[in-house]
Amino acid sequence: MMKNIGNNPIHKHQVNHIRAKNKRGNWLAVILFRISRRDFGFCLTALFLFCLGSIFWQLNGGPPNILQGVRYYFGQSTFTDDHGPIAPNVLPFPRKVVYNRVGKCGSRTIVLLLRILADRHQFTLVSSDIHNKTRLTKHEQGTLMRNISEIPQPFLYTRHVHFLNFSRFRIDEPVYINIIRDPINRFLSNYFFRRFGDWRGEENHLVRTPGMKDEERYLDINTCILENYPECSNPRLFYIIPYFCGQHPQCREPSEWALEKAKQNVLEHYLLVGVLEELEDVLLLLERLLPHFFADVLNIYKSPEYKKLGNLTGTVRKHTPSLEALQVLYQRMEYEYIFYNFARDLFHLTKRKIGLRSGPRPSRRHRSPDPNAQEEEQDEEEQD
Ligand SMILES: *[C@@H]1O[C@H](CO)[C@@H](O)[C@H](O)[C@H]1NC(C)=O
Ligand SMILES: *[C@@H]1O[C@H](CO)[C@@H](O)[C@H](O)[C@H]1NC(C)=O
Ligand SMILES: *[C@@H]1O[C@H](CO)[C@@H](O)[C@H](O)[C@H]1NC(C)=O
Ligand SMILES: *[C@@H]1O[C@H](CO)[C@@H](O)[C@H](O)[C@H]1NC(C)=O
Repeated sequence: MMKNIGNNPIHKHQVNHIRAKNKRGNWLAVILFRISRRDFGFCLTALFLFCLGSIFWQLNGGPPNILQGVRYYFGQSTFTDDHGPIAPNVLPFPRKVVYNRVGKCGSRTIVLLLRILADRHQFTLVSSDIHNKTRLTKHEQGTLMRNISEIPQPFLYTRHVHFLNFSRFRIDEPVYINIIRDPINRFLSNYFFRRFGDWRGEENHLVRTPGMKDEERYLDINTCILENYPECSNPRLFYIIPYFCGQHPQCREPSEWALEKAKQNVLEHYLLVGVLEELEDVLLLLERLLPHFFADVLNIYKSPEYKKLGNLTGTVRKHTPSLEALQVLYQRMEYEYIFYNFARDLFHLTKRKIGLRSGPRPSRRHRSPDPNAQEEEQDEEEQD
């Protein structure tokens, strides 16, 4: 009796265990019977092919970019081991920026700022010292674009050059930025700068334009405009649009076609086209849109150290032409103004999207001229 009593619970337990086993067996059996052997084989084959494909894929191309991006972000040492030294941890961002700076639109200021920023944010700044060649042969275009694409990333490349079509040469497109200004003001700035240079002194122009005859140097601007000197007529007045239109010869002739092409390129290829009249807002937007290049730029711009550096302002002997001459100029620059207004409207739209007021700030308009006003910013000579 004792035996029986003692054995009973154990027996019960065993029965339960077997039942559980049977249950699990049933469950498996249900699935196995529901799925035919053919289907099951099909699934396994698919899985096998997937694994095989994955292996080949990884052998050929390695992990997808998104995984690399995530690893990059978290700063896995293995990534650096595999890919050499790279910048601090950051999310993916535009790593290739081209600023095809328009002459006499404050680009000198921007280049000075960029030198400081490149140091601070560890990007490669390449500022071309070719100032008088904005259009290139097809061969030169290819060479230049390949050169640009080989600059260590992240980089910002800047040069006085008309828009370059990277996709035409099957090279990855960079992000474009630019700054323009009121076309007549730009023209006047260039006119006097060519003749009389800037802060670097009265003798400066002799170095800059040594071949210029006094007749030309002291040419009255009203005469130049009203008597149709080439310098004050088209196509020389068609200046800003070609920077956005491109390298096509038709881009340099005042026409609806060039205007439309320029507008289209701004919409499709430019992250930002700012206007010099609102330089501080341009800098603020650059800071927001390209923080890895422009973070803190406004503070630098406003700092006393920079003001000292940026001291090199002020084209000498700037006269305003007569009203009559201005009107003639305005008519000759019709396309330039349509383009300028288009770009300015777009700039204001971007400002509104980011939450800045549009239009120049009224307080700035009524202020007395500031010796460092952007109006006077200098550029290198452009003979084009
Ligand atoms: C550009 O300037 C360089 C020197 O600064 C000169 O040698 C060259 O001929 C100029 N090119 C053009 C197209 O004016
Ligand atoms: C391209 O780069 C090479 C070497 O850095 C340089 O010699 C050449 O002048 C560059 N070409 C252009 C068009 O910038
Ligand atoms: C760039 O070149 C390609 C091929 O020639 C052309 O299809 C495309 O329209 C061009 N893009 C621009 C912006 O000019
Ligand atoms: C900057 O401007 C001030 C006054 O306008 C002048 O005294 C000073 O010499 C200038 N500095 C440079 C480096 O040109």
